[in-house]
Amino acid sequence: MSELPAERRRELLVELLREARGCCRCPLHEGRTKVVFGMGNADASLMFVGEAPGFHEDQQGLPFVGRAGQLLEELLRGIGLERREVFIANVLKCRPPGNRDPLPAEIEACKPFLLRQIELVDPRVIATLGNFATKLLTRSQRGIGAVHGTPQVHEIAGRRRWVMPLYHPAAALRTPRLVDELRLDFRALA
Ligand code: URA
Repeated sequence: MSELPAERRRELLVELLREARGCCRCPLHEGRTKVVFGMGNADASLMFVGEAPGFHEDQQGLPFVGRAGQLLEELLRGIGLERREVFIANVLKCRPPGNRDPLPAEIEACKPFLLRQIELVDPRVIATLGNFATKLLTRSQRGIGAVHGTPQVHEIAGRRRWVMPLYHPAAALRTPRLVDELRLDFRALA
C-alpha cells in the first residue's frame, strides 16, 4: 500500500471515513452521536490504537479528547511529538453504552476499518493502548500487565510492523503508578 502516492492514500482514507460514518454493522450505531474514525497525520510512521470512544469523543467525533487524551498529549510532548504528527485511532469507532468494554462481535464488526486504516497510513510502529487493542493486534490473550513496554513484530495489514503495547492512559488516570510506567514505556517510542 505504501507504493500508492500519499495523495491517493489520503483520498482512500477519506472514502473509508465516509463509509464508517454510514456504518450499521453492529448495534452500536443506534446509540452513537458521532462516529469516531480517527485523526492525525495520514503519513505517520507511528500510530496509536485505543479502545473505543468515550463520552467526549462521541460528542465531538474525535479520538482522545477527554482526560485520557490530555494525558496522551502530555506523554507525546514528553518525547517531542505533537498529536498532529501521529495517527490516532480506536478498535471501535462508536461508543459502547456507558463506556462498557467492547464485545467480541463489535470488535469483529469494526476490525476491517482499523486494518484498512493501518494499511493506508502504513505506520512502521503501532502503539496499542490497553488490553483490547493489544490483544487484537498481537492476536494473543496475554494481558497488558505482562506485555507492556516490550515491542513485538507482527504481520498486520500486509506487512511486518512493530507493535508497542502500552497501558491505556485512562487506566493510568485510575492507578497513578501506571503513569510512571507509561512515561518509561513512551521513551522507547522517541
Ligand atoms: N479511550 C479510548 O480508548 N479512546 C478514545 O478515543 C478515548 C478514550
